[in-house]
Amino acid sequence: MALQNQEFLELTIPLDKLSAEDKETVTAFNRRFPPHDAYLETSGHLVVLKLKQLDFGRLEEFFHIQPTRLSKAVFEAVAQIKSYNIRGSKRIYANYGAERKVKDRKQKEQKRDKIYYAKDHSFSPANVAPPPEFENKILCGDSLELLKELPDNCVDLIFTSPPYNFGLDYQEQDDDHYWQDYFAQLFSIFAECIRVLKFGGRIAVNVQPLFSDYIPTHHIISNYFLSQKMLWKGEILWEKNNYNCKYTAWGSWKSPSSPYLKYTWEFIEVFCKGSLKKEGSQKNADITAAEFKDWVTAKWSIAPERKMKEFGHPAMFPEELAKRVIKLFSFRGDFVLDPFNGVGTTTFVAQQLGRRYLGIDIAEQYCTAARKRLQKED
Ligand SMILES: C[S@@+](CC[C@H](N)C(=O)[O-])C[C@H]1O[C@@H](n2cnc3c(N)ncnc32)[C@H](O)[C@@H]1O
Repeated sequence: MALQNQEFLELTIPLDKLSAEDKETVTAFNRRFPPHDAYLETSGHLVVLKLKQLDFGRLEEFFHIQPTRLSKAVFEAVAQIKSYNIRGSKRIYANYGAERKVKDRKQKEQKRDKIYYAKDHSFSPANVAPPPEFENKILCGDSLELLKELPDNCVDLIFTSPPYNFGLDYQEQDDDHYWQDYFAQLFSIFAECIRVLKFGGRIAVNVQPLFSDYIPTHHIISNYFLSQKMLWKGEILWEKNNYNCKYTAWGSWKSPSSPYLKYTWEFIEVFCKGSLKKEGSQKNADITAAEFKDWVTAKWSIAPERKMKEFGHPAMFPEELAKRVIKLFSFRGDFVLDPFNGVGTTTFVAQQLGRRYLGIDIAEQYCTAARKRLQKED
């Protein structure tokens, strides 16, 4: 049983009898960890762990060095505590919320009108299965047209990276439109995406703003979804660690008149339709505890895709990015769509992870590469 007191969380570890080995473990534990972090107390046949904060790695080490039944019981008791804060290398178990405790949180949330921007949406909760003829397919064509063939509310997750109007050399298309035309076209495709999403379905859009044109694409796209009464789930910062210093455009070098800001990251904007919660059976969740803990901290360090030349595509995202989005936001068996599928990173990873998929791209050459990539796995 865990009791929260002023300073320490108390975990009682019942033992039928306190053996000499248990007593040695208590002494070794109290020697290893500073008493203001954690200590063990004995009381009759009970051992009580007083826990404030711990370096969990050190606890694991302790259990390996001292593999007794008591160290195992202590390790397991601490491992099953799922709620803690992190400061430096330590997990904080006691009173970590105290400094940001808000009195009457629920009432205050109600008063503030939580998620006011999505009130009075008209999304239907009636979800349907995807038509079998669209399952596990790569379709070549304009998403604006092809998505119209899908019924409302049939897609669990959309993960995509649209062309960003940078002037890249894509096959069979221009990537340098007037910004207004570009956004108008993009939003008409996103409108279809919202329509085909299930109630509770998610859309995650990888956005790389063109900072040199001072177009905050990630904000413009997010504002569009908000205007459509989609719920903001959050923003993931994809740190690519590729400090792109090839250009020398610093703006006003050594002068505050107009410095040019540089970015080593891209964004993933995540929105939900109708509900932040998604239906699905826990037995179909395939994300591990370690992945979950790691990935909900929304700054992901992933190297950019290195095989773009091999695939003949100028703007692929890496498989690891698709893997994290798919595992974090969908269940096994879900239907995953990428309406700007390129050479099929989303669909390839979806297949590997046991999801059903649909990938659409306007360029035949990219669709052929995406299909080949899927076949290799069969
Ligand atoms: C940034 S790339 C996506 C790359 C992809 N994530 C990958 O890893 O291969 C954008 C893709 O959108 C496609 N595209 C552009 N306009 C489209 C449209 N109207 N319908 C379908 N695909 C389109 C382009 O051909 C391009 O491959």
